[in-house]
Amino acid sequence: MDTSKLMFREDLMAGERILVTGGGTGLGREMAEGFLKLGAEVHICGRRGGVCEETAKELMDAHGGKVVAHACDIRVPDAITEMNDAIWSGHGALTGLVNNAAGNFISRTEDLSVRGFDAIANIVFRGSFYMTHDIGKRWIEEKRKGSVISILTTWVWNGGPFVVPSAMSKAGLNVMTQSLAVEWGRHGLRFNAIAPGPFPTEGAWARLSPDSSEGGSNLEDTDRSGNPMGRVGEMHELVNLAVFLLAPGADYVNGQTIAIDGAMYNASGGNFSMLSNWGDAEWKAARDAIEGANQKDKTKRTV
Ligand code: HXC
Ligand code: NAP
Repeated sequence: MDTSKLMFREDLMAGERILVTGGGTGLGREMAEGFLKLGAEVHICGRRGGVCEETAKELMDAHGGKVVAHACDIRVPDAITEMNDAIWSGHGALTGLVNNAAGNFISRTEDLSVRGFDAIANIVFRGSFYMTHDIGKRWIEEKRKGSVISILTTWVWNGGPFVVPSAMSKAGLNVMTQSLAVEWGRHGLRFNAIAPGPFPTEGAWARLSPDSSEGGSNLEDTDRSGNPMGRVGEMHELVNLAVFLLAPGADYVNGQTIAIDGAMYNASGGNFSMLSNWGDAEWKAARDAIEGANQKDKTKRTV
């Protein structure tokens, strides 16, 4: 990301301690970089401990400050508690959480197994709740203010054909955001969400726009024609919105989900309805490619 495009003063997030789940790659890494650049202490977690370590090192080499990597599988409640205990005792209380970690792949719903559904729902729907619950309880107990943002998709408003487990799980988090904003607002806790349109990343595109059985992705030739602005999102645009929602100064914004998609879902749905014309051959090729990407990533998991 070009950090000169951040909209905020350099010390805006000094004194903040933010956990970004899935912060080793993609959008999570970009947000971690933005928070660090604006003075926050940043914690990142993922199942590939080495990837998180490498990201932490690269960000600190570039900007100084403190980024701490944690190997943690958010599907495992005890692992979440253990990581948060370590953060609280080794560094101090978190002031913010970004529920960014996710799993997804395109599939005809009739081709999904129960395990396929669970693979996504257990990360997005359950894992994000477990994390929010563990941290929220600590904030309430300690009478601390805290801010949570969850990274959703515009499918929470109009559905996600061919990504049904993801769309259902993200819709659940949208309702979590609205519900906890009300229930825990009296404790000084805030819950907001961002619904990004296309911001090409390796992790997402390998599973949503796969192009080979080696687990590759069509990052470069993303179709921009359905977007009124004729382009995909730029990382600093997303990071600026995340900072605005998370940082002190926007304390009265609570229970909101904001789209950042160049008006794409208003114009063309912003989902995968165009895959209705794929036949068996296209779906087989996509699945082979996605499973190639899954295998490649799995070899790096340390938890
Ligand atoms: C059908 C599939 C499949 C596919 C996997 N499965 N890929 N089914 N089509 N393409 C099935 C498997 O066959 C298996 O079921 C089950 O899913 C579990 O597979 P595992 O490989 O064991 O899963 P697991 O190790 O838990 O990995 C989770 C994962 C993986 C979601 C499958 O892709 C992952 O770890 N992803 C993390 C990164 C990621 O997805 N990033 C993208 C986020 S983008 P059976 O029954 O055969 O055992 C995003 C939205 C972007 O969220 C929006 C853009 C606009
Ligand atoms: P990504 O790079 O694949 O990011 C997903 C991250 O989640 C990875 O770092 C992954 O790390 C982590 N993760 C997955 N399962 C986990 C688990 N069980 N425990 C801990 N961490 C886990 O993809 P991305 O595009 O940046 O996506 C980031 C977020 O943005 C997701 O919520 C996605 O739905 C959302 N989003 C993205 C776009 C887009 O255009 N890119 C659009 C809309 C919404 P490990 O594999 O190491 O665990």
